[in-house]
Parts: sequence; structure tokens; C-alpha cells
Amino acid sequence: MFSRKFQSCAQLMLATVMMSFVATAPARAQQATAKLPNVVILATGGTIAGSGADSTTTVGYTSATVGVERLIAAVPELKKVANVKGEQVFQIASESMTNAHWLTLAKRINVLLASQDVDGVVITHGTDTIEETAYFLNLTVKSNKPVVVVGAMRPSTAISADGPINLYNAVMLAGSKEAVGKGVLVALNDQINAAREVTKTNTSTTDTFKSTELGMLGYIQGSKPYFYRQSTRKHTLESEFDISKLDSLPQVDIVYGYANMNRIGMDAFIAAGAKGIIHAGVGDGSVAAQMKPALVEARQKGVLIVRSSRVGQGIVARNGEANDDELDSVVSDTLSPQKARILLMLALTKTNSTQEIQRIFYTY
Ligand code: DGL
Repeated sequence: MFSRKFQSCAQLMLATVMMSFVATAPARAQQATAKLPNVVILATGGTIAGSGADSTTTVGYTSATVGVERLIAAVPELKKVANVKGEQVFQIASESMTNAHWLTLAKRINVLLASQDVDGVVITHGTDTIEETAYFLNLTVKSNKPVVVVGAMRPSTAISADGPINLYNAVMLAGSKEAVGKGVLVALNDQINAAREVTKTNTSTTDTFKSTELGMLGYIQGSKPYFYRQSTRKHTLESEFDISKLDSLPQVDIVYGYANMNRIGMDAFIAAGAKGIIHAGVGDGSVAAQMKPALVEARQKGVLIVRSSRVGQGIVARNGEANDDELDSVVSDTLSPQKARILLMLALTKTNSTQEIQRIFYTY
């Protein structure tokens, strides 16, 4: 069909193309890597790093047993979406998270994000207090680069473990331009939630994280983020809180409201040094008649009182179920008791003024 001469020319050309392709492979690979965002994974423990007795164990497993390098190695697809480095910051079940852990984590994140070599950070975390860590970081991270907190509801050893896909999605999100400036995000179950509103709504199912009435921010689908809304409250770079020089946070405790409640718990917290009390009242933050003297005495001792609600949704109205002007108390707006505690701790690092603290609760 073709002359021998033509065939040998064609083979020579093909060999030349192949050789140049092979020769430039490292450069192309480097170029491709250079285009990928640099994401640091800070591992703290939790179920995403948990392991069970066998592949059907989805409760009664051990949390915080798998190290960050193994978490990364278990998801080779991470290399497709980011250049990833891992740091094992802690290795704990998140019910044991403390203020000290939060300060260490926030300071490390701020150092990393100040570097032009880091484009985003992912925190792997137990789901029990993921919403609290995320909100603390939402108020203390000094960057608009993406910070994504991720966990899992099934241990890494379980059939259909959700950790690997959640980690892949979180790393992709942390390296995405779409997540810039959105505040700290919580990404599990293909959904993107804002730190301020997200909460754990089920003890064990993989769809547990919801922002209920105020709504999640968007979805992750096909390795891409899709945002449909964003937080209207201040966060990250717009936050007035600076933890860089703090080694501790003021003690703030939560008093849970229920029928027939008494003041013993509140008095004990205050005797132990609490500088603030979150009163997680029934209904619209209601204060039982037998609790009012305790609140009055607490204020006389200089303890800040925030009226929140155990209900979980809706606004706690100022001067609604209690006379806040008279009590000199603050209302939590829509913040859950556990998040109101975080905001009050940070507020107390700046002021004891009830008026200023009420402004803060209407700002963040
Ligand atoms: N002990 C819980 C925690 O570390 C396990 C729950 C989880 O991580 O999903 O938060």
C-alpha cells in the first residue's frame, strides 16, 4: 500500500513524537501539579479516623485511631483535585474537644493560611462537636481562603464508609475558588453547610448535618461545588475577634431548661468561676419563676446572662418571654445554646458591656 520509504518516514515521525511526549512527561506532570491548589489537611480524630471490629460495625467502634497519612493514602483520588499535605494536630473523639484544642487549631490555621503556598485547609473532625469547632473557627480564622471541616458517620473500616468521599469532596471544596470568602464550611453527605447554622440532627445517620430552616449553602456533585446562598452574618476576615495572643477563654456554661428545673446547676457553675451563663430556656427562651432570682443574683455578681432556647429553631426575642432590659441579659438571636456559648466566650475577651454583647449577637 505505502512505499517502504514512506513507511520508514512515518515510523520515524511517530517515534519522534513518542519520545518528545515521554521526555516532556515530568514537565507536564509538574505543570499539571502546579495548576492544582495546595490544601493542608489538619487531622483531629473522630469517626472519619475510626475503626470497628469488622466491616459491619457502624456503632460501638473506636474513634480516632487512623492517622492522617493513612486517611490520605486511602483516597488516592485526592491527587486529582489538590496537592495535599497532612498534619496530625490531635487524635481525639470530638466529645473531648476543649477550648485549648480550639485555640491551638485556630492559631495553626491562621499560620498556614498566611502562607501564599497554602490555598485552603481541611479539618477532619469527629461529628459530635464539628458544628462548634466550625463556628469557633468561623469567628477566629483571619483569612478568606476556604476552610472546610469534614467528618464521617461510619468508621473507615465499615462497608460504604462515608469518610473517603467526604474527605475527597472537602479537599476539592477547600481548593475551589467558589468557596473563597464563604466563611468556614461543613461538608458531608454531598452538602455544603455554613458553620453558623449547621447542626447534627441525627445520632447515627449519614445525612445528619442540616441547617434546618435557614438552609444549607449548596451541593457538591461530580467533583464540583454548587452554591445557592451564602451567610449574611459576619465571619473570618470581618470578625472582630483575635485569638492570636489568647492562651485561654473565659468560662461560660450552659444551663438546660426543663419543666420543674432548679437553680442548683447555675449556682454551681457560678461558684466554679463561670463568667457567663447560657440559659437554654424552654420555648422562646422562657425563664421559670424559680430561676429568676438566680439570674438576678448572677448579674449582681457580674456574670453575663444570655437567654437562648433548647428548641433549636427561631429567634429568641429580646424582652419577649423575659424582661431583658430589667434583667440586664442578652438574647442569642437564632444561635443554638452551644454556639451562643462560643460567641459569648469570645465576646467576653473584648467587653463586659451587655449592650455591646447584644450588638455582637446581632452581628455574628
Ligand atoms: N465520638 C464521636 C466523635 O468523635 C464519633 C462521632 C463521629 O465522629 O462521627 O465526634
